[in-house]
Amino acid sequence: MSRDDLLTKNAEIVKMYALEIKEHAPDAIVVVVSNPLDVMTYVVHKYTGFPRERILGMAGILDAARMAHFIYEKLGYGAGQIRATVMGGHGDTMVPLPKFTTVAGVPIDDLLDSEEIGEIVKKTRNGGAQIVNLLGDGSAYYAPAKSTAVIVDAILKDTKQIHSCAMMLDGEYGYDSIVSGVPVTIGAGGGEQIIEMTLKQLQKTRFKNSVASVKEMVDILYANGFFDDLK
Ligand code: LAC
Repeated sequence: MSRDDLLTKNAEIVKMYALEIKEHAPDAIVVVVSNPLDVMTYVVHKYTGFPRERILGMAGILDAARMAHFIYEKLGYGAGQIRATVMGGHGDTMVPLPKFTTVAGVPIDDLLDSEEIGEIVKKTRNGGAQIVNLLGDGSAYYAPAKSTAVIVDAILKDTKQIHSCAMMLDGEYGYDSIVSGVPVTIGAGGGEQIIEMTLKQLQKTRFKNSVASVKEMVDILYANGFFDDLK
């Protein structure tokens, strides 16, 4: 199954939990980890009614960690010093951003050629499917759990660290009322401030495609009447 295949089944499960959270934990900060991640984060918004800073989708940290790993695999040095950046939805249209990725502050395009970087971007996009294929049943768990722990740690310690998380956009990057992965400062309040980087045209186009792919799945739920109980 692909992440998208889980859409309708998981939307029902996530709706159920969102309504329980709304009733029993009305002050909670919700970290969503269910796929298709960006759509499930949207569902949590709709059924908890929480302010957007208290709903974070775990994806960009996971994808950025994979990108950093593949960069290290290629370089053979810089472990722990690689800062990879991934935006957009958690799926095939995710947007790894080599221009915003460094090794100890050195831009990776000073260290790798465009073909090597392209290979790393492709492996990053395929990271989840690679593990699903290796496991044969189920999907990754260690790296998603570690990535979730990074978010929870930043909230509990009010670190204000910047991480890529799925958040409901309200005009940022030119989009609103849709969830996508963006750099955000994480602290005691949850996703406190979305950081707007200056994107070049190709990066904007890729982000636009990624947002559109998430909206397509949200629209499927609307078309199926999934949100009709909110009318
Ligand atoms: C992955 C699943 C968790 O990327 O979406 O491994």
